[in-house]
Amino acid sequence: MKLLQPYKALTLTAALSLSAFAYSETSQRIVGGTETGEAYPWMVSMVFPGTQAANERKWCGASLIAENWVLTAAHCVVLSGGLISPSSRNVVIGAYDLSESNDVQDKEYKIAEIIPHPQYGVGGQYFNDIALIKLNKPVTDAQPVKLVTPEIFEAINAQAEASSTGDGPQLTVMGWGDAYSGMSWTDNSKITKLQSVDVALWSHDQCESAYGTGRIGPAFCAGFPEGKKDSCQGDSGGPILSSESGWVQLGIVSWGYGCAGAGKPGVYSKIADLRSFIEEYVDLSEEDTDTDTDTDTDTDTDTDTDTDTDTDTDTDTDTDTDTDTDTDTDTDTDTDTGTDSNGNGDSGDKEKGDGSSSGGSAGIILLSSLLLALRRRQAIV
Ligand code: ARG
Repeated sequence: MKLLQPYKALTLTAALSLSAFAYSETSQRIVGGTETGEAYPWMVSMVFPGTQAANERKWCGASLIAENWVLTAAHCVVLSGGLISPSSRNVVIGAYDLSESNDVQDKEYKIAEIIPHPQYGVGGQYFNDIALIKLNKPVTDAQPVKLVTPEIFEAINAQAEASSTGDGPQLTVMGWGDAYSGMSWTDNSKITKLQSVDVALWSHDQCESAYGTGRIGPAFCAGFPEGKKDSCQGDSGGPILSSESGWVQLGIVSWGYGCAGAGKPGVYSKIADLRSFIEEYVDLSEEDTDTDTDTDTDTDTDTDTDTDTDTDTDTDTDTDTDTDTDTDTDTDTDTDTGTDSNGNGDSGDKEKGDGSSSGGSAGIILLSSLLLALRRRQAIV
């Protein structure tokens, strides 16, 4: 903790290269992909606040899941120093080219609150690698992404269980992360347009045989036996999705051994297993309502399109009410988060000194971070 203090005085540029250093030392961003060619309204880039173009301020990926909630990885917000403060990052929502500052300006939002999973890092490194970010105002002009339900995940996963490694259902992962393992910060900042790549879902057994029994937790693997295509450093926190019947987010970019190496797929937090954490704060029933509405739309289309529009508006109003309820719950969260910071400090990864952790177990946290850093030198995240 003390060692991290001086970093607080660093300028943004220096802080960025510092984080880039920490990045490239341990892992890597989209490999073997292409530009998506378009913006996705729910795609989010976490950035440092600042005046430079957003591609110079990148931190992690994320996704918009409700009008004032963004989903990311816990390891993007819990660092060795503890939980990062809401004012230390912004989120850019629905951008395609991060270098287009005029466009990004309107899409950049401040963060009101950050809530990592209370069990992040419990049971195994990076287990429950998921966090919620509450925006300080709702996004009114972007449609959130749908999150997978356990039932839909099981249906997709059944295909993976029945396939040989790499032949499972295709998922799409996207982000502004590295194009190869160990890319420098300078080179990564030249990736300004959103990249994506399709990767195959692996069965749980295939995933465990790549990384070891008991190492996966509530997560899944995606990639190819020969590697070549993968998410990478800087893509963390971003979504992996199925596009089979509209975009549905199945997972969150979490970790991997290097990037795109043979036999080492990307590991993604499994939303189907972690939905209850999200639902504590976010009303996801709106999604179901949307689905229902869509179904209705099909029926109604013949009759009257205007009626459909009204239905949508009603749904939005309901969401507002629900959000208010969420705000009440947040008080509890603050307490939880305090505990989390300490617990998670042990398993926090990318080192950067802007964490706002409390003193008590700082020594232990520092020591375990150092040990973790040493261990990670030869692998992961
Ligand atoms: N943990 C990395 C990050 O913070 C993401 C690593 C993903 N690795 C992989 N091989 N898919 O950006």
